[in-house]
Amino acid sequence: MSLETTIRPVPPIPAISADDGGIAVDDGDTHENGGAKPAGGRNADVSAKAAPSERPWPKVAGLAFGGDYNPEQWDESVWPEDIRLMQAAGVNLVSVGIFAWVRLEPRPGVFDFGWLDRILDLLHDGGISVDLGTPTAAPPAWFYRAQPESWVVDADGRRLGPGSRGICCPSSPAYAAASARITTALAERYSAHPAVLMWHVHNEYGAPVSQCHCEQSQIAFREWLLLTYDTLDAINDAWGTNFWGQRYGELDEIRTPAASASVINPAQQLDYQRFCDHQLLSCYLRERDILRTWSADKPVTTNFMATNCPSVNLWGWAPEVDVVSNDHYLTAERTDRHVLLAMDADLTRSLAGGRPWMLMEHSTSAVNWQPRNLAKEPGEMARNSLAHIARGADAALFFQWRGSRSGAEKFHSSMLPHAGTNSEQWTELVDLGRTIKALADVRGTTVTAEVALLWDWESFWAQDLDWHPSVDLDHRERTIAFYTRLWQDNVTVDFAHPTADLSGYKLVIVPQVYLLDQDAADNLDTFVTGGGQLLVSYFSGVVDAHDAVHPQGLSGPVGEVLGISVQEFAPLAQGQHVALDLWGQNASADVWADRLVLTDPATQILGTFTDGPAAGRPALTRRRIGQGSAWYLATRLDPESLALVMDPLYAAAGVTPVAGLPHGLEMVTRRDHSQTFYFLLNHTDQPVDVPLSGTDVISGERHEHSVPVPATQVIVIRQQH
Ligand code: GAL
Repeated sequence: MSLETTIRPVPPIPAISADDGGIAVDDGDTHENGGAKPAGGRNADVSAKAAPSERPWPKVAGLAFGGDYNPEQWDESVWPEDIRLMQAAGVNLVSVGIFAWVRLEPRPGVFDFGWLDRILDLLHDGGISVDLGTPTAAPPAWFYRAQPESWVVDADGRRLGPGSRGICCPSSPAYAAASARITTALAERYSAHPAVLMWHVHNEYGAPVSQCHCEQSQIAFREWLLLTYDTLDAINDAWGTNFWGQRYGELDEIRTPAASASVINPAQQLDYQRFCDHQLLSCYLRERDILRTWSADKPVTTNFMATNCPSVNLWGWAPEVDVVSNDHYLTAERTDRHVLLAMDADLTRSLAGGRPWMLMEHSTSAVNWQPRNLAKEPGEMARNSLAHIARGADAALFFQWRGSRSGAEKFHSSMLPHAGTNSEQWTELVDLGRTIKALADVRGTTVTAEVALLWDWESFWAQDLDWHPSVDLDHRERTIAFYTRLWQDNVTVDFAHPTADLSGYKLVIVPQVYLLDQDAADNLDTFVTGGGQLLVSYFSGVVDAHDAVHPQGLSGPVGEVLGISVQEFAPLAQGQHVALDLWGQNASADVWADRLVLTDPATQILGTFTDGPAAGRPALTRRRIGQGSAWYLATRLDPESLALVMDPLYAAAGVTPVAGLPHGLEMVTRRDHSQTFYFLLNHTDQPVDVPLSGTDVISGERHEHSVPVPATQVIVIRQQH
């Protein structure tokens, strides 16, 4: 090995309490249980609006622009050119070292920091700051060989070994010790380095695997259960184990829900998801706390995948990061990919509690892992970056700086493409860097929303389990359907956990949140009683936190808020449509119908099924409470019919959709006390005019009453208050 290896004393390895095969790692200040004892099967107290700590935003001038930089993939002779081209493109922040564990610790406890010292110095001299990664998403081959018990075991019993990337078993004491050692070594060496502005822990927790069924996981699962429920009786009760004779007589009889002959107890599966989330969060917290010990002033983040990582409950994670950061990749073949981008950005902003956040990764053009990796259209990269900024990001970073020649991602687009600087991609990138520099004053301004959509990973976990009334039930599809309607109406949306404080919103929509417990129902009741408009769509509030049907029946305590009771689900056959009468207007729906009755005299029927399995029964109801109303929609309306419901809802809530904008023009505003920025994103191939006055931030041009937005382009208009 021709490494310039610095043999350094091994930093203290956290003690592992392995006597009982346990998982506790004592590093002095570790929150092994996510900081608190989980309550009633739930991991995190998500009742407050998620809010990361108040640690300072990384000290970059203006908005951050850059990406993942993997200098270890290149000969050092390439580095000066990297710096020069980064400067040419306006890059001011790069994420370094995310997958470099083996290059930093080529043998256990033997460190090679020389190369990292040199590149950090070069970057600093070049005026480029660093988001320094802990490389724990890519354990070295020596670790896998030495610690075979740390390999992830999947539900089918396959052991997932080295040769790729991905975490080891998150409950592994050996992984805990090794990841703490490399994190400590990095923190000790680089906390004071002037290039390092922030820390980036691991990479995309939960991907590519979040679950492990090894023997260490069995032990840890039982420990988590005991911590959560205190007694075996409580576990049996919560899981309803009298069903199918599943009652456990001893804790050691319980195993993680791996392969079995038929459907495994759903409450057990749901708790296993919570356990997996908890173990991953514990891994993050261990590293974060080490970094904080050494580096009091620098923010710590880990990159989320807001709408695209189903296995972690980010409402519990967001308060644990100093800066919320997110990775987003388009689903290239979807024509509504820009709407899904907006939804992802809005969820990320909501996780950040409304504060600015970082777009940690997106792509300049095609990715490499979709079935057909479509290149972005001209102008699309800038529209994507600026759409994230419009929705609250103060950073637009990419994966990755220089395209890799080798490895699994060699066909992924990059800031510096294989085609080099003599290419359209490079020219567009340099233009984008210039635009982002011109938008420096946008930094710190915020986006506000009057409408919230409820979003709950725990509910998604429960709903995605087996044997539900129809395969056509799909919470993601429903969320996208409502979000799309709001996007088309230019209504800005936040996302909220069902128990979050909703008092700041005028309208709250529950698209399909299957798991809603009594606390959530009380919260919705408070919202409506306080004057809010609430719309609950079908198959919401069906079960409690243990995936058990509520004692009140299929509509549970939320049904009491709505003044209805669902007596029976009446799902539709594949392709079947039903007709409805909504205020005398014809409407059409598919997938679902409820057979429901009214339970409160204050509940009105606003729409009725006119055929199908619920013919003659209510399809849309409204219960007025004071100034507020709770609406229930018992079917899946087609998009045009949904508009018939949304318009009166907006009117009742006092929400004003932005009318008069050209089709395909997205408008989002960011503001502070002295100025408003209007982001005008033209998603069409035709120029449009937007009725607005103000100054174009990039060109400096003043517009009175009408702003021309060229085809595919973005214009940002500033109005001083
Ligand atoms: C992300 C990941 C990056 C890179 C990228 C490719 O999910 O964090 O390391 O693999 O995908 O699109």
